Amino acid sequence: MRLTHDWEFNVMGIYNYRKIGTFKPMFDYIAENHDKIAGDIVDVGVYRGVTTLGLGLFLKEIGSDKKVYGFDSFSGFPPASNPNDEFERFEEMFSQGKISKAYWEAVQYYWKTIGFLKEGKQLDQFTVSTSENFANTSKELLERKIDYLGLDNIELIEGFFEDTMTDGQAPSKVLAVNLDCDLYDGYVNTFDFIWERLSPGGYIWLDEYYSLKFPGARIATDEFLADKAEKPKMYPRNKGEFERWHIIKNQN
Ligand SMILES: C[S@@+](CC[C@H](N)C(=O)[O-])C[C@H]1O[C@@H](n2cnc3c(N)ncnc32)[C@H](O)[C@@H]1O
Repeated sequence: MRLTHDWEFNVMGIYNYRKIGTFKPMFDYIAENHDKIAGDIVDVGVYRGVTTLGLGLFLKEIGSDKKVYGFDSFSGFPPASNPNDEFERFEEMFSQGKISKAYWEAVQYYWKTIGFLKEGKQLDQFTVSTSENFANTSKELLERKIDYLGLDNIELIEGFFEDTMTDGQAPSKVLAVNLDCDLYDGYVNTFDFIWERLSPGGYIWLDEYYSLKFPGARIATDEFLADKAEKPKMYPRNKGEFERWHIIKNQN
């Protein structure tokens, strides 16, 4: 099935790649490189499928026979939390000069506002997001949507990443990754698993490299890239817009 109107994307809860939106640079990169760079697409953090389904439809639309591999527990965040996801890490990053004053101020403003709106509730990495911990989804929900859309290019891998990011579960080559799992451990699992599979010129969208909620994603990214030539790159943005970051793996 082809979706034409914006409202159809909205009703289905799918990212409309035809509009200029958050993920446009990632979709553009895939369109420009899908016949030049080997490998499939990996979506780390599916939730209810906004990006996974958008990627599946998009690949069909550009005539690509690549697949989308979507990793998620489909039951929300893992129960154990890593100290690198705690709010205090933002302050440390600021005092160590790793994030700007404007970033640190934006974080403080966000947590104050959410604290005000969720008065009386203990705020931490499990409750700070508007979707709480993303437990209100299921693999069956995704399968129904995939069926309805008639897509045959999406593989869903259910479970916590530390169990599912194993050899048999993913393509041997990867063109692009949408890394959108919020937490430190998930970023660590993903980098360890994906990097050797990522083709030269391969792409990683870093959804939380600039995040007002989850400091661990940036910490994990910087730790992983510390001994590598590749560094995160920021897209140009208009004043007031969120910073958007990505990595491109070097050719050799
Ligand atoms: C921000 S949501 C993903 C949003 C999604 N890309 C979209 O388009 O709506 C983050 C997802 O990562 C998943 N997640 C985070 N850490 C995980 C882990 N260690 N194992 C499995 N799933 C995890 C959560 O279950 C959640 O659905």
